[in-house]
Amino acid sequence: MKTLSNYSLKQNNSFAVDSISPLVYCPSSESDLQELADLLPASFYILGEGYNTLLVDSRAPVIIKPEFFGVSIRECDEGYTVSAAASENWHELVLHCISKGINGLENLALIPGSVGAAPIQNIGAYGVELSQYCSEVTWFDFDKQQLTQFTNDECKFSYRESIFKHGLKNKGLITQVTFFFTKKWKPNLSYAGLDDLPTNVSAQAVLNKVIEIRQSKLPDPNELPNAGSFFKNPLLNKADWLELKKLFPDVPSYPQASGHVKVAAGWLIQEAGLKGFEENGVGVHKNQALVLVNYTSNSGGSISTLANTVYNKVYEKFGIQLEPEVRAVFSTGESTLIRLSHG
Ligand code: EPU
Repeated sequence: MKTLSNYSLKQNNSFAVDSISPLVYCPSSESDLQELADLLPASFYILGEGYNTLLVDSRAPVIIKPEFFGVSIRECDEGYTVSAAASENWHELVLHCISKGINGLENLALIPGSVGAAPIQNIGAYGVELSQYCSEVTWFDFDKQQLTQFTNDECKFSYRESIFKHGLKNKGLITQVTFFFTKKWKPNLSYAGLDDLPTNVSAQAVLNKVIEIRQSKLPDPNELPNAGSFFKNPLLNKADWLELKKLFPDVPSYPQASGHVKVAAGWLIQEAGLKGFEENGVGVHKNQALVLVNYTSNSGGSISTLANTVYNKVYEKFGIQLEPEVRAVFSTGESTLIRLSHG
């Protein structure tokens, strides 16, 4: 198995901060994974393309960087089964499917990151979530040292959540994700910005529109280092939402089937006065306040400090506790980013 020692992860995290890992394992086969299972230290972090990870300290823990590639497609009367290995690039997979007339992922275009990372936080955008199309996840179990299949139900998907982030965290590693796309495709045009497209629009046209919207709103991590939405949109219970709405009638809100109401964290951050805020070479993006950006800093600690400022300001103004979507990795492994300054 390929390994790297004293390796700088600056090129492997989209915040482009420097952090040195003592050892990086790059498994690329099942036998590498079996070898790795016997070598695992007490703390380690599995890194995909690093688009949703904040390396907080200048030292990183042991890193596992899977290198599994390949895409296969099977057609049947009803649709297509597409299996993609974990280290394939997500957006390339979306483009590949659409170019072959396999529709469904178009709303999820341009989400940075790898295929293997996508089920972990059940990526979603413009009214579609990965969970709607993911039929199976192949996962290597470090204890049993074998591959296991998870059905969609077993993945326990919800908004930016799955079993891989919780019960199975660090107990194994995703090697492949399988999707099923029906031939009875209909566009999902529910989200603002897509709702003016005609209902007979092609998947390619939806894809183009999603790319256009994302490029106009979200900073390109290759140009201005960032990790997309830094926090999740909070889910409030009905009573809390009614109270918030009374005080702030303009708050963008999305009622959920569960009875909860999702509110826009970007709006909360903006109304807390932080849109465009900058300190220590990092800041809150000027067009989309949910995105924290790195202008000139080399240290994840500056972004961590900023995230805590955002959390505290939003809590002071709205009494809402934001939850980071980005995963925070310290020299000792993954941990909570927010240091509560209130009860
Ligand atoms: N808003 C503001 N000010 C801001 C940002 C947003 O007022 O600075 C308002 C917008 O005007 C809109 C509402 O908040 O009324 C929602 O904004 P937007 O449509 O930009 O989406 P979002 O809720 O901020 C979520 C996802 C994005 C995804 C978009 C589109 C989360 C945490 N984020 O953002 O995902 O692209 O919807 O579906 O759910 C990501 O996860 O990295 C990501 C970019």
